[in-house]
Amino acid sequence: EVDNNNTPKDEIHELLQTLEQQTNWDGRPLVKYDGFWLTVLSFRSILSTQKYFKAKDSDVILTSFPKSGTTWLKALTFSIVNRNVYTIDQNPLLTCNPHTLVPSLEHHLYSLQENPNLQHIPSPRIFSTHMPLSILHDSIRDPECKIIYICRSPLDVFISSRHFWLENKIGKDAVPLELDEAFDRFCQGIHSSGPFWDHMLGYWNAHLKNPEKVLFLKYEDLKQDITFYIKKIAEFMGYPFTEEEEKQGLIDEIAKLCSFENLKNLEVNKNGDIRGVLKNSSFFRKGKVGDWTNYLTPDMAERIKKIMESKFGGCGLIF
Ligand code: A3P
Repeated sequence: EVDNNNTPKDEIHELLQTLEQQTNWDGRPLVKYDGFWLTVLSFRSILSTQKYFKAKDSDVILTSFPKSGTTWLKALTFSIVNRNVYTIDQNPLLTCNPHTLVPSLEHHLYSLQENPNLQHIPSPRIFSTHMPLSILHDSIRDPECKIIYICRSPLDVFISSRHFWLENKIGKDAVPLELDEAFDRFCQGIHSSGPFWDHMLGYWNAHLKNPEKVLFLKYEDLKQDITFYIKKIAEFMGYPFTEEEEKQGLIDEIAKLCSFENLKNLEVNKNGDIRGVLKNSSFFRKGKVGDWTNYLTPDMAERIKKIMESKFGGCGLIF
């Protein structure tokens, strides 16, 4: 038996009925699960990931709050681990969007199939997820797999996310909230994958507890010194650059290949799409730090600052 959305009336369907509900600013229905607001659309695949995904020791899991630099991190990690497989001018990034090369667990693999067979993917497997650590936890706790989290100023995340969803018109039938109201909801933590502070804190605390397993990156830092971070990411993943490679300028080549300007202007990223749902171009908007100043008032920024002070106070996480 199925409901109006053509989804089976099973235990997940039953569970959904019991959860607190809200609406994302763009009209997508949300449910609160384990303290986080998740879209109803991805709820089933999130639970499948949680139930079936088992990381291997050699896996690298890229984790992020949406719009924090996931695409960039995918391009960087893919080029770092495959640098001896493809020359730069034959790198698949030149013809494929980073999201097709590094699949998302809940938005790609576990949304196509309930329990996909991922065994045939050669090591190191790189996957991404926007799932909060507490929801992902069981599948990645025991293996020696590496987790890389990237985060970004919530002000830029909010603006980036707003453009992204308006551009992709996901909540087609809904009238999106005005900026002020959407921002208010964001500050209350009611937004897809929110509250942002709990998402960041989960991974931050895991990084403090086990820095060998969890690397914590900030978009702003990568923008400032990409060479340093390419080296750091490579070392963390267990693929350090040799002196010879450094001398050959390989780090600079990877930085250039993965740069915003280069990726944005590739044919595949200008015109392609992801399964007919998301435009590749929407993943490359401005790529700047501080674009929020063009949209939000100083009072709004102050509100976020206060939220961060109260949530992050003293834990060392600052923007
Ligand atoms: P803006 O909307 O501020 O431009 P995600 O990849 O997590 O969806 O995040 C998307 C944000 O990262 C967008 O921010 C996008 O432009 C930016 N971005 C994408 N690729 C990038 C790259 N190679 N370098 C820097 N920023 C990039």
